[in-house]
Amino acid sequence: MMEATELNGVNGHTNESNGAPQSRDLAIALEPCDLNSIPSHIKTISELGGRLADGDLQVRLKLLKSARSLVAALETPRETMIKHCWAQPAAFTAIEIGIQIDLFKVLARDNGSSKKAASVAQELGVDPNLVARLLRHLGAMNYVKEAGPDEYEPTNFSTALNIPVVGDGYPLITEDVRIAVDKFPQFLKKTGYKTPSDALNSPYQYAHGSKLNMLEHLELDAKNFQRFHNHMGAYRQGRDSWMDPGFFPVQDRLVNGAKTHSGAAFLVDIGGSLGHDLEEFARKHPKVEGRLILQDLPSVLAQINQLDDGIERMPYDFYTEQPIKGSSATHIFGSGARAYYMHSVLHDWPDDVNRKILARVTEAMERGYSKLLVNENVIPATGADWQATAEDIMVMITSSSLERTEGNWRDLLEGAGLKICNIWSTDNALESLIECELS
Ligand SMILES: C[S@@+](CC[C@H](N)C(=O)[O-])C[C@H]1O[C@@H](n2cnc3c(N)ncnc32)[C@H](O)[C@@H]1O
Repeated sequence: MMEATELNGVNGHTNESNGAPQSRDLAIALEPCDLNSIPSHIKTISELGGRLADGDLQVRLKLLKSARSLVAALETPRETMIKHCWAQPAAFTAIEIGIQIDLFKVLARDNGSSKKAASVAQELGVDPNLVARLLRHLGAMNYVKEAGPDEYEPTNFSTALNIPVVGDGYPLITEDVRIAVDKFPQFLKKTGYKTPSDALNSPYQYAHGSKLNMLEHLELDAKNFQRFHNHMGAYRQGRDSWMDPGFFPVQDRLVNGAKTHSGAAFLVDIGGSLGHDLEEFARKHPKVEGRLILQDLPSVLAQINQLDDGIERMPYDFYTEQPIKGSSATHIFGSGARAYYMHSVLHDWPDDVNRKILARVTEAMERGYSKLLVNENVIPATGADWQATAEDIMVMITSSSLERTEGNWRDLLEGAGLKICNIWSTDNALESLIECELS
């Protein structure tokens, strides 16, 4: 019995009532998480490393995945825990402070030549001790490069933080989103651990003590509103784009057969934010005829500083009648668009809200001519990417929504009177384009 008591302490093992062996041995926290898998990760990394120079995005992504798996296997549970609880929050806040005080701008000056923390601090007019400590942690985390004692160089990451679409995510999360993330466990405890399903009674409203949806709430603070839209403009940069060759056959599926009379609408981007997707389309497909129409709420369109001249801004609330509408009586003017497009719009909402949004699109579509293109994550049955799974949790918190599997998309879209013609995806299934027509 004496032995059993000791084993139930810090160093022991015990069996819980369900019979599952529960290790309470601290040693498990001090050994690599998965020693056995390490040689195979290293083998994959060395094979992929040799192919990186080809510039193939998929090779880089596979290498990154293997490198993450290697780190996870090498770290001990204690190290991973300290990383989550100390290192990452400390890095996040150091980055945000750095953005606030222009630290990364100063660091990037003179072609990124190495700089003493004290001279950076002097230029910023900030306490040198504070700057040195912030830089030391960012150096330890590889976000800036240590060049000597109290001396640092920028990295591509730290320099990129000076671009608003990259840097704006940090204060946005701190000032608006994190409170909801932090209160999510409390919300679930109160609601009996049921998956949130009401867009207006999500952890976001609970945390903010508000009845507004996230966008309406963000709108109360002009800075955060702008940051959110900048953040939206950044998160998909560098990912496969459906407008590129080898993804979705734009010419075959959209351009061929599109009406070209004056006034014909080619692509309507519903909830298109600041117009980044339509600008990309205009740049990549400059010869395509027909109107490119950007629809979003008036307050969002008012945030646009610059937009390609060929794109029309059309203030529009997607719960109301779609102005670009087909009808059997009007085949020249007032015809439906060749394609209505929604990118990361439906993932913001649970199905009941999406059914209302989709009803406005389907009633505007011209049968046999218009398409609906839905650019979203389609979560695979296994091997889902961490970006998609992270987004899934974030939209659950901010609007009781979800990132959808193919089955989830079929239920939603087919239930709304649409037929899925094809789901176009890339290798890693990070970006998908669901091509639909009226059923
Ligand atoms: C997650 S963002 C996606 C933006 C953009 N499509 C992209 O992929 O970057 C959702 C967009 O839906 C817009 N939105 C939200 N409610 C809307 C409404 N009632 N009518 C029109 N657009 C709306 C937001 O303003 C925002 O631009």
